[in-house]
Amino acid sequence: MRRNHFVVTSSLFLLQLALVPNLALSQILFQGFNWESSKHQGGWYNLLKNKVSDIAGAGVTHVWLPPPTHAVSEQGYMPGRLYDLNASKYGNQDELKSLIHAFHDKGIKCLADVVINHRCAEKQDGRGIWCIFEGGTDDSRLDWGPHMICRDDTQYSDGTGNVDTGADFNAAPDIDHLNTQVQQELSDWLNWLKSEIGFDGWRLDFARGYSSSVAKIYVGRARPSFVVAEIWNSLAYESDGKPAYNQDGSRQELVNWVDQVGGPATAFDFTTKGILQAAVQGELWRMRDTQGKAPGMVGWWPEKAVTFVDNHDTGSTQNAWPFPSDKVMQGYAYILTHPGIPCIFYDHVFDWGLEEEITLLSAIRTRKGIHPGSTLSILASDADLYVAMIDGKVIMKIGPRYDVGNLVPSDFHIVTSGKDYCVWEKD
Ligand SMILES: *[C@@H]1O[C@H](CO)[C@@H](O)[C@H](O)[C@H]1NC(C)=O
Repeated sequence: MRRNHFVVTSSLFLLQLALVPNLALSQILFQGFNWESSKHQGGWYNLLKNKVSDIAGAGVTHVWLPPPTHAVSEQGYMPGRLYDLNASKYGNQDELKSLIHAFHDKGIKCLADVVINHRCAEKQDGRGIWCIFEGGTDDSRLDWGPHMICRDDTQYSDGTGNVDTGADFNAAPDIDHLNTQVQQELSDWLNWLKSEIGFDGWRLDFARGYSSSVAKIYVGRARPSFVVAEIWNSLAYESDGKPAYNQDGSRQELVNWVDQVGGPATAFDFTTKGILQAAVQGELWRMRDTQGKAPGMVGWWPEKAVTFVDNHDTGSTQNAWPFPSDKVMQGYAYILTHPGIPCIFYDHVFDWGLEEEITLLSAIRTRKGIHPGSTLSILASDADLYVAMIDGKVIMKIGPRYDVGNLVPSDFHIVTSGKDYCVWEKD
C-alpha cells in the first residue's frame, strides 16, 4: 500500500521521502484478542474489523490474531483439523480473510497464532486411544496416526516416534517434529496460511515445546516475514517471593533461541515484563542492570525483543501474571519509548479506556523514529524514579517522584504525561 504514496504530486512526494525512513523503521505489534474473544456474539473477526482504523491510528504495524483453526477448546489452543478454519469460534474462513484484507489495506501485517507443538485427535484407534488425526480436507493432508506422536508421550504414541525435542505439553499429544512427513505437511500448511489466507507472519505458541532447530526448519520452509516466539520462562525468585535483581538466566534463554533460529525470529521479552511489573512497585532501581543497560532481553538484543505489558494469559480473565492494574500506563510509557518491538494489548486500548494515552505514546514513537535498535541511555533508576533518554531526542520518566531535578535539559518540552509518567521531546 505504501507504494501508492509515490503516485502523488511532487511536493507531497518530497514530504513522503522525509517520512518513509521513520515509518519503515517503526514496528509496533498489537495483540488483537483476549481470553474471552471467542465468546463474542457475531464473531470476533467481524468485531475486530470495525476497529481496524483505531488500531492503525495507534501506529500499529503488525497485528497478532488468535489461533485460526478448528480446536477442541474454544480459544483455539487445543487445535485439531488444521485446514478447517470454518469451525473456529472466532469466525469462519471468509470472515478471517476479509479481516486480514482490511488490515492489509492499512499497511498492517497479520500474524497467525501458530499452535503446532501439540494436536488433538479426531478419533480413537483400535486400542481406544485418541490418536487419529484429520486435516479437515477431503484429501489426506495432515491425516496422521500414533506414529506422528513423540514416543515419550507414551499414553498416545505407537512408541516408535522420536523423543520430544522440547518441553512436554500435558493436555494433548506432543507432535514428533523430527518426522519428515510431519515437517513437510506442516510446512505446506504454514505456506497455505500465507498464500491462501493472507497471513504474513507467526506468533509461535508454546515454542518451548520443540527445539530451536525444529523452529528453524519451519521458518526456512515457509518464510514468514515476522516470527515471535512464546518462551515463557520463570524469573529467578528470592526466598521472600520477590524477583532477584539479576535475571540474566531468563534473558539468555530468549536470546539463545532467537540466535539459533535466525532470520526473522524474535521472542516475547518475558524478562522485561517480570522485572518491570516488580519495579513499578517502588523498586525502579531494578530497571538498570550492572552494565547500565536495560535489565530485560531488550538490554541485550533489542532488535529481537518483543516487549509487552500483558497478554491473554498473563492478563485478561486468566490473569496468570498480571501487571499491577493501576500502573499499566507506566508499563506502556516504558515499552513505547524504549528500544525493542512493543506489543500493545487489546484490552488496554478497548476495554480499559486507555486508547488516547496509548495512542499519544505510540505517536511519539513513530514521529521520532524510535525503532527496535534505538539507543537507550538511562539517566536515573532510584526506587521512586526512572528516567531514560532514547536516541538523544526523547526523554521519559516513570515513578511517583515528581521532581526530576536537572535531568531534563532546557531544550526538551513535555509532549505527554499521565499518572506517574511523563515524556519530553527535544525542540
Ligand atoms: C470453509 O469455507 C470456505 C468458504 O465457504 C470454503 O471455501 C472452504 O473450503 C471451507 N473449508 C472447509 C475445510 O470446509
